[in-house]
Amino acid sequence: MIILKNEREAQGMRLAGGVASIVLKELCSWVNPGMSTRDIDEYAATRIKHYGGKSAFLGYKKYPCHVCLSVNEEVVHGMASDRKIQFGDIISIDVGVVFEGFIGDNARTVSVGGCDLKAQKLMDVTERSLHEGIAQAVAGNRVVDISRAVQTYVEKHGFSVVREFVGHGVGRTMHEEPQVPNFVDGKSSAKLRPGMTLAIEPMVNAGGAAVQILRDGWTVVTKDKQPSAHFEHTVLITESEPEILTRPENCRTVTESV
Ligand code: MF3
Ligand code: CO
Repeated sequence: MIILKNEREAQGMRLAGGVASIVLKELCSWVNPGMSTRDIDEYAATRIKHYGGKSAFLGYKKYPCHVCLSVNEEVVHGMASDRKIQFGDIISIDVGVVFEGFIGDNARTVSVGGCDLKAQKLMDVTERSLHEGIAQAVAGNRVVDISRAVQTYVEKHGFSVVREFVGHGVGRTMHEEPQVPNFVDGKSSAKLRPGMTLAIEPMVNAGGAAVQILRDGWTVVTKDKQPSAHFEHTVLITESEPEILTRPENCRTVTESV
């Protein structure tokens, strides 16, 4: 069942999206060579708390960290550890927060001090593929229109989309219907209606699409060890243009202080 949000609930989703995005923004500008992914996770915990939120990931199916930190060939669900990030690495940061009962979910990949051109292109194409998908998130379209837009854009640039992990509806719980694949899976897909809130999240590999899960039970890596990037926004379907909910301007603290 797809849960449509009324205007009051949409406002709740905006606030949660605001906290999720401002924390993500802070983490992205904070990363530097030499810090461990545990340092970043601890910083994330303090920033989420600062804005009055809670991690949506910590404890979810026993996930032990506040945010997901996935380095280079890690695709998603990387876990905080003593691993130090180095100049030239790319790191995907996925932040999901609960704020006043609603969840905002967003992610982006950044370089650690800079990276090679291929990794930069991978990040750029992944981010643009997210926006190609968002552009299709309009009432009357179907979920598959989002999927197709992402896949077409990614493959046109010679990269591949991950099949095993997909975007999702999001609201008071992190994973609601419908699933939002980043490829055309040939199944029937739901019609988009005003009030739907979707986490659209392309995971894009520089090499092949194949992934595997490490023995820690969480970390997803590319089979060919080539790098992967991940961008995500929580989006509201409206009567007109799609509305990105995960925007720093939606954070109450930020709005009130200007
Ligand atoms: N953005 C991811 C998702 O929607 C993050 C989940 S991490 C988990 O599935 F640890 F909470 F599973
Ligand atoms: Co998500």
